[in-house]
Amino acid sequence: MFKLAVLPGDGIGQEVTAQALKVLTAVKTKYDLDYTFQTGLIGGCAIDETGDPFPQDTQELVAQSDAVLLGAVGGLQWDGPDRKVRPEQGLLGIRKFLRIYANLRPVKCWPQLIEQSPLKKERIAGADLLIVRELTGGAYFGARGTKVVDGVNKSYDTIEYSAEEIRRIVKVAFELAGQRRRKVTSVDKANILDTSRLWRRVVEEEAAQYPEIALSHLYVDNCAMQLCLNPAQFDVLVTENTFGDILSDQASVLGGSLGMLPSASIGEGSALYEPAHGSAPDIAGQDKANPLAAILSVAMMLRISFKNSAAAKAVEKAVDTVLMQGLRTADICTTGCTCVGTNTIADAVIKALG
Ligand code: IPM
Ligand code: MG
Repeated sequence: MFKLAVLPGDGIGQEVTAQALKVLTAVKTKYDLDYTFQTGLIGGCAIDETGDPFPQDTQELVAQSDAVLLGAVGGLQWDGPDRKVRPEQGLLGIRKFLRIYANLRPVKCWPQLIEQSPLKKERIAGADLLIVRELTGGAYFGARGTKVVDGVNKSYDTIEYSAEEIRRIVKVAFELAGQRRRKVTSVDKANILDTSRLWRRVVEEEAAQYPEIALSHLYVDNCAMQLCLNPAQFDVLVTENTFGDILSDQASVLGGSLGMLPSASIGEGSALYEPAHGSAPDIAGQDKANPLAAILSVAMMLRISFKNSAAAKAVEKAVDTVLMQGLRTADICTTGCTCVGTNTIADAVIKALG
């Protein structure tokens, strides 16, 4: 029996995971999915309850689960530069704990939402790319600190990568490119950073194992520009943690909204699925959030962890149908469309599943 841990987290994380679970339940019988699920705390709600953003109970829960579905973490009440315990530490904690070093963020330009993007449609039409972001290294996990030097506050964060950390993520990118259009673009800042020079060397070494894949390198600043100028040139983008964080938000604009961007994080054991968006406290609890990124994350879970691509395709097709019908949450709503709430759009997805 497949065990799923559900960690809704904070803000709209609660609403979107509830809708995503509804969709999972809707495909359960038809696709013969045998699973149970249990919920746990992460992020700000876990701090309130236990003082820890990734408490022991949640660690035990995810340790014995086959996959994790996560909502989002964070909120104004836990913000502030002087806070020592922060919701985001829960997210970093679970990533490290599960050793999920590869964060997959597929971005595509949905034809139904093309008008929604601030970018010109002739530039973004046909864009369909996969960002493979390293998730358990770099500045997120390097040595950091703040000290007072000669009466002045000084802080530092360090980017560290070992060749092996680079190699394993690069392998994931090459393997996935083999199932797509066989192009890998490695993104770095090798004109400046030592870690990027090592990154590039390891990418070159690994590329030798994949002669069928076309490889190119781009500096991250140039990549940011190319994502706006000509995003359809990309197939798989592979990059380190911080660059991947920034580029994936930027790339989400191609899909019309961050509310459309799912993600899967995979590594040595159980995988974690979460929408790439945050907890959006400003709209939390108002039935306004877009649950499609969470629902599409469930599709990724069906494909990767359940190994049921038929069910995954059915969910993706249902999302496509709903967008075709002109139903939209506020973030993707334009004139001529029907603006609906979180619940209604998820119900429409379920209906479209047939
Ligand atoms: C993401 C988010 C997180 C990150 C935050 C919430 C810690 O922005 O998943 O992209 O920076 O990794
Ligand atoms: Mg981010």
